[in-house]
Amino acid sequence: MQLTDNFGRSIDYIRISVTDRCNLRCVYCMPDTMKSGCYQDGKINTDSILTYEEIVRFVDVAATLGIKKIRLTGGEPLVRNSIDELVKGIKEIPGIEELSLTTNGQRLAGMTSALAQSGLDRVNISLDSLRADRYAEITKGGDFDKVMAGIRAAEAAELLPVKLNMVPMVGINDDEIEAFVRFGIQTGCQIRFIELMPTVVNEHLFNKGFIGTDEIKRRIEREFHITPLKLRKHGPARYFSVTDHAEHTNGIIGIISAVTCRFCSQCNRLRLTADGRLRPCLYSNIEVSLFDALRHNASKEELQGLILQAVDLKPERHHITDGTETDTPTASGAPFIMSGVGG
Ligand code: 5AD
Ligand code: SF4
Repeated sequence: MQLTDNFGRSIDYIRISVTDRCNLRCVYCMPDTMKSGCYQDGKINTDSILTYEEIVRFVDVAATLGIKKIRLTGGEPLVRNSIDELVKGIKEIPGIEELSLTTNGQRLAGMTSALAQSGLDRVNISLDSLRADRYAEITKGGDFDKVMAGIRAAEAAELLPVKLNMVPMVGINDDEIEAFVRFGIQTGCQIRFIELMPTVVNEHLFNKGFIGTDEIKRRIEREFHITPLKLRKHGPARYFSVTDHAEHTNGIIGIISAVTCRFCSQCNRLRLTADGRLRPCLYSNIEVSLFDALRHNASKEELQGLILQAVDLKPERHHITDGTETDTPTASGAPFIMSGVGG
């Protein structure tokens, strides 16, 4: 079964946010004063977010429609307890070929074995600086040594290739672009440079700090030879092989032009928020809530109908560069914050 939207795009990938809560406050993502509401007294309040059983049921039905790839995100997915149980549940579903997770790495080191044993295929780790003090500043308190330990543990557990997400920002970390490429070559990690995306919490930062793909590439080309790779299937990343002029060593990098180069025509994904809203586009307020249906044990046909409805509503493209949609409220009126919709 293949799921195709009204613009001929084949939809086979869902990003699932398991919590909007996070143990960091990255400058581009969350205001440092922000509290998020999934947890009360350290315990998950599942009155408002999906349980693992409900998420597994959702994926089970989505797989019958042609969904093959799942990524777990947040917030920070590893702040939710026993995430390996969810990994196991999803991985057992027939038709799910790839299961990955995006994490800030703070809690990763102690969890990689359990995650790998439960069937997780890969991890993406957010890392915006290779300097401990700067890392702490960008993340508002993140511990650099913990992410590094997480990266090593992920490699040891063969959650490969380990991909590192780096968001270059002018005057904050853009002087580290070349260092990241080198770090990737040395460690075998794939560095993914991600264009800063505008949200309601980072308008000022975006106006001052945005740096586009062309400039990122120019900086890299000062020290490395880069050749486009045809790894691109669907999705936003373009991959390049990089060669260090001096050392004759190689690596792979990705550049994600979320803003400057519309990859909407290649978009293969849906997003499920922690509270069960299925969003066909990151930059649109369109959403279909599956929360009640999942909570009340709706039939497979009903759930399939809701998923198809979301696919049917998938817009052709976003309008970020038109300057009309940087402030995208959700249908419920809440502001668009990346940690809430799973980046
Ligand atoms: N712009 C670009 N990337 C973002 N992320 C979160 N918010 C933004 C934003 N405004 C991405 C980062 C991080 C991942 C969890 O989400 O790459 O690594
Ligand atoms: Fe947390 Fe990730 Fe947002 Fe940083 S980018 S605050 S790690 S959810």
